[in-house]
This record gives sequence, C-alpha cells and structure tokens, in this order.
Amino acid sequence: MSHAAFVFDAYGTLFDVHAAVRKHADRVGPDGQLLSEIWRAKQLEYSWIRTLMGAYRDFWALTEEALDYAFARVPSADRSVRGDLLDAYFRLDCYPEVPAVLKALKETGAKVAVLSNGSPDMLASAVRNAALDTVIDDVFSVDPLGLFKTAPEVYDMVTTAYRLYPEAVSFQSSNRWDIAGATKFGFRTVWINRTRMPDEYSDLAPAMILPDLNALV
Ligand code: LAC
Repeated sequence: MSHAAFVFDAYGTLFDVHAAVRKHADRVGPDGQLLSEIWRAKQLEYSWIRTLMGAYRDFWALTEEALDYAFARVPSADRSVRGDLLDAYFRLDCYPEVPAVLKALKETGAKVAVLSNGSPDMLASAVRNAALDTVIDDVFSVDPLGLFKTAPEVYDMVTTAYRLYPEAVSFQSSNRWDIAGATKFGFRTVWINRTRMPDEYSDLAPAMILPDLNALV
C-alpha cells in the first residue's frame, strides 16, 4: 500500500530507550533493568498527567525528573552514573534496521518524518547521532503545542503541515497507547511490537502489527 507520508514515533520505535542503561550496565549495578523500566514508565506518566493538568514541562525535564525518581526507587543503583545516563539518553542508539528502512521509504517518494514527545534539542541530537538527518524530511516535536501525545492536536501537526487527510499518513509506533491515539485521530497505524507485548485498546486497533520496521518496505 502506498502512503503519502510515513511518520514514526521516536522513543522505543526508532531509538532504543533502554540503550542508555545498557551502555552503563556495569556501573549501574544489578537492578539496571528495573531502573530503566521505572525511568521510562515515569517519564510517560508525567507526560500524560501534565497534559491533563495543563502543566507542560518539556520532555527533557521529565526525563531528568523520572530518572531521579527511578534512582529513589532503586537504592542499589549508583547515582554517580546519573550524568552519563542522561548524556547517553540524549544520543540514543537507533535500532539496527532503521537507517535502511527509512532510506527505502524515502526512495518511494513518500515523506518520512518523526512525530515525538521529545524536545527539539533531544530529537535533533538523536537524529544526528544516528546519521538519520539525510533521510528524515521533518522532525515534529510536541514542544510548540505544550501538549503531549495522545492529545489529537499532536497528530494534527502532521496533517496540517503536509496538507494531507489522516488516512494518507502511515504512522508507526512501538508504544501501543500511541497507536491507540493515532488510530483515534484517523491515521493508518502500524504497531511495531518489538517486545511481544499483549494487545490492548481493542476498540482502537492498528491496521498492522509488525515485530520491527523491516516489513514496511
Ligand atoms: C515519543 C515517545 C512517546 O517519541 O516515545 O513520542
């Protein structure tokens, strides 16, 4: 199926959010996975709660706040690695198939874009670090809106910028809640179920479920 635009969530979909803790696993200690999971879960919770309250702070501030909370919950983790974890998060690795898949999609003539909760500076840094700047046409950050996903205004940034109907956009995310929001908005959605999670939000089902991005091309 051809689409006018392929739009990707950033964290968890293009960039591996657990790569930062993995990179410093030796220094973090035995509960690194727990630390990383709490870090991610709290970062997302803060984004939803702050959007509901109308109390926006940018995603980088939430990432720092969530890491501090995770350290408080995981006493075995060595806090001296905090700065290095944040530094690694600012320049996360992309998943191995990402560069080739984005390049192939761009060669079809479709727009290739990122739509993310990330602040503009953290997204620019991750995209540059993964050398994706030549294949990505646009990086849409929620920051100018002061709202996080799943607010419909976020998904509307893409359709407004590209003057497309929602169904002309193929939206890929590994976050099932993001797929629910994008489906509700009207995008054609592809859930990249990298970690084989059970399905949820049954009334807001994706058009397709893939284990990674490879089968998009
Ligand atoms: C993003 C987060 C939610 O990139 O993964 O928008």
